Amino acid sequence: MHRRYFPEDFIWGAATASYQIEGAYNEDGKGESIWDRFSHTPGKILNGDTGDVACDHYHRFREDVKLMKELGLDSYRFSISWPRVLPEGKGQVNEKGLDFYKQLVDQLLKAGIDPAITLYHWDLPQALQEKGGWANRDTAKYFVEYANLIFKELGDVVPLWITHNEPWVVSFPGHAFGEHAPGIKNYQTALQVAHNLLLSHGMAVQSFRQLGLPGKIGITLNLTPVYPFSDNEADQKACDLQDAFINRWFLDPIFEGSYPEELHQIYRKKVGEFIIKNDDLEIINQKIDFLGINYYLRLVVKHNPDYNIFGVETVKPEGREYTEMGWEVYPEGLYDLLIRLHKDYAPEALYITENGAAYQDQIDADGRVHDQKRIAYLKAHLKNAHRAIEAGVPVKGYYIWSLMDNFEWAFGYSKRFGLIYINYDNQQRILKDSAYWYRTIIAKNYIED
Ligand code: NOJ
Repeated sequence: MHRRYFPEDFIWGAATASYQIEGAYNEDGKGESIWDRFSHTPGKILNGDTGDVACDHYHRFREDVKLMKELGLDSYRFSISWPRVLPEGKGQVNEKGLDFYKQLVDQLLKAGIDPAITLYHWDLPQALQEKGGWANRDTAKYFVEYANLIFKELGDVVPLWITHNEPWVVSFPGHAFGEHAPGIKNYQTALQVAHNLLLSHGMAVQSFRQLGLPGKIGITLNLTPVYPFSDNEADQKACDLQDAFINRWFLDPIFEGSYPEELHQIYRKKVGEFIIKNDDLEIINQKIDFLGINYYLRLVVKHNPDYNIFGVETVKPEGREYTEMGWEVYPEGLYDLLIRLHKDYAPEALYITENGAAYQDQIDADGRVHDQKRIAYLKAHLKNAHRAIEAGVPVKGYYIWSLMDNFEWAFGYSKRFGLIYINYDNQQRILKDSAYWYRTIIAKNYIED
């Protein structure tokens, strides 16, 4: 057996997001979010599920922090619900909401767990959606006001800050495909949203620097390596376009201050313009301390002129393993991705801010959840993260999605990603085998293969 040791200061973590776990959707002065509105609209979420109660984490966070401590986590990544602290999105602060996060941070620090805060994990205040949401440039300004409030309240004690989680998902599933809140189907709007999200990221980083806070700040992107179905030129071109669409549209402006030109031209021709003002790209191109990567799957694509505006069709290779999400298990893709990011963009540090899998977990007769497939998935991905570290890529930490089963957006509670099983009938928490496995990995700081 070969022991793959991780660096001594490697951060072992787990992640969640506010709307997916908190519940208490209208308690203690919280304002409505676009996900409250969306999930309360019939037909939008599988089985009519909502985040009204979710994992009831708002009331059970003390118990949940205890479980994190039991696992030995170095860090816990969670997000703040903007409308819980600013019910109207701006202006009047809801002290009770703010207090919840202060208490959570306090509990984490007492347990020796570093908080890693995501400022925006998709639950925009509905009040701001009424003013146009992310398609309205002013939302970037309000985001920075909100970020500043949190920086001032928690900036002294929180070491890791993430401005946005997966802006691609907010932009396209949210505003072009209509599958996520706010459920808009307009490609041009989606492009404006992507730009305003990036702008708000850059502005928030500027603010963070001005405050001279001790922590580190970055952004989390969903990055998906793309492979051509064949080596013919058309498939290769389709591959490049898909890569520009899903990865480079966000990476290039952040690291290089420009949008991928070829794709921008297609958008100009087929979608229309979006507004970029004078120094927007300069603002977006702020130096960040780290890049957060959410990695789940790869894509294999081929050219098909009838398919979408790019003429790109995604194919599912046969004979491969797929998770409950229908996502191909492809651990080598994580290695390829990390190497590529290091080569093309050279971020100072990289964190895998999410990696994990949904499987059909069940409580066995012995009262336990034997999720062996999840363990295999995690182990294979950790191996590939380790290979990248060996090759010189500065991967500083790894967060499993998710600490606990939760509300999987349009799929409601039908998909379980957690290390901890949630019984939604009585809110009982059961550590799955993967949780015990992760505890030993954290304690040993190596994996075996
Ligand atoms: C990425 C998102 O950040 C998270 O909210 C979601 O639950 C997981 N992927 C799984 O789809």
